[in-house]
Amino acid sequence: PCSRVVLGIETSCDDTGAAVMDETGKILGESLHSQKEVHLRENIERVVQEALERSHVAPSRLSAVATTVKPGLGLSLGIGLDFSRRFVRQHNKPFIPIHHMEAHALTVRMLQPVPFPFLVLLVSGGHSLLAVARGVDDFLLLGHSLDEAPGDTMDKVARRLSLIKHPQCSTLSGGQALELLAKDGDRSRFPFRTPMGKTYDCCFSFAGLRNQVNMAIMKKEAEEGIEQGTLLSCVKDIAAATQHTVASHLAKRTHRAIVFCKENGMLPSSNPTLGIYEVNTVNSVQVLSGGVASNEYIRKTLSIITETTGLHLLCPPAKFCTDNGVMIAWNGVERLREGKGILPPNVDVCYEPK
Ligand code: KG4
Ligand code: ZN
Repeated sequence: PCSRVVLGIETSCDDTGAAVMDETGKILGESLHSQKEVHLRENIERVVQEALERSHVAPSRLSAVATTVKPGLGLSLGIGLDFSRRFVRQHNKPFIPIHHMEAHALTVRMLQPVPFPFLVLLVSGGHSLLAVARGVDDFLLLGHSLDEAPGDTMDKVARRLSLIKHPQCSTLSGGQALELLAKDGDRSRFPFRTPMGKTYDCCFSFAGLRNQVNMAIMKKEAEEGIEQGTLLSCVKDIAAATQHTVASHLAKRTHRAIVFCKENGMLPSSNPTLGIYEVNTVNSVQVLSGGVASNEYIRKTLSIITETTGLHLLCPPAKFCTDNGVMIAWNGVERLREGKGILPPNVDVCYEPK
């Protein structure tokens, strides 16, 4: 093959991922280790080796190495970056530093030719943000979470409800457990307030909802005379109400973002990570990505918003929504094609947790 080939490396959180991809977005080989392991450092060698072997591409054949350098956990980012720095020097390859959130936002373009600009909602255990993707290196951040991410909130609520003890939920993530139980729950029994009802921007807040849910749980425990850690009789109703409030908050903020983009109004508040740009028209596409995006109820709620505002909702399959090396390699490919952000092998790059 004569096309250019990129190695992508992701270590911004608990996952170590690597992928080899050609210029057309074809995945030639990939490897992902998701365990929360202490020996990330040994993992990285193995994961990159595995991705390269599976692709049958020798390091000398690579056109560039792309690695997440921000944002994420300092220690994890450092491990990926240290490895990459040594690797690109050893094999004399160009280096492409990658912004983890930008990679999430552009993953959809690997699967279908979505033209810029488009609106993205990223929701996972680590992040929640709304942004306009205007180009490979051109993003307008419209809003982000002021406290915790929605997946984190759902995980904590699930833990507080001891859902791990529920026979149907023992192997599920907190978000998945809430979604499953919510199917048979009556959300109207717990009318939680949707966060930030009086704030007219596109930011998110979930800590207050978690507080409301905790108070309701405590009250029920007192009423039923049971101890914390015992399954409540109303878990399904609490699950349904929590999920509904998360969905409703995400939908309302997304609606604001759509209106903002359509009206081309005032500039949003300052944003240190992605930079401020003036907004122009948004394409008729909205992309929903991240672990929480696999929630059917949330998808349905958002699709109501996009339908009524004339947008089309795209959700990449779950395996591309969660952290992986493929999305980093794809961002590397997109940058290589446009010649954006490509550094020589000997340049010193630092990671940035924030
Ligand atoms: O993107 P992801 O795999 O990892 C990071 O957070 O970086 O997202 C994991 C999060 C967890 O908090 C999990 O509870 C949540 O996504 N999640 C869900 C669902 N599946 C996973 N939340 C709600 N509904 C789901 N079906
Ligand atoms: Zn992520």
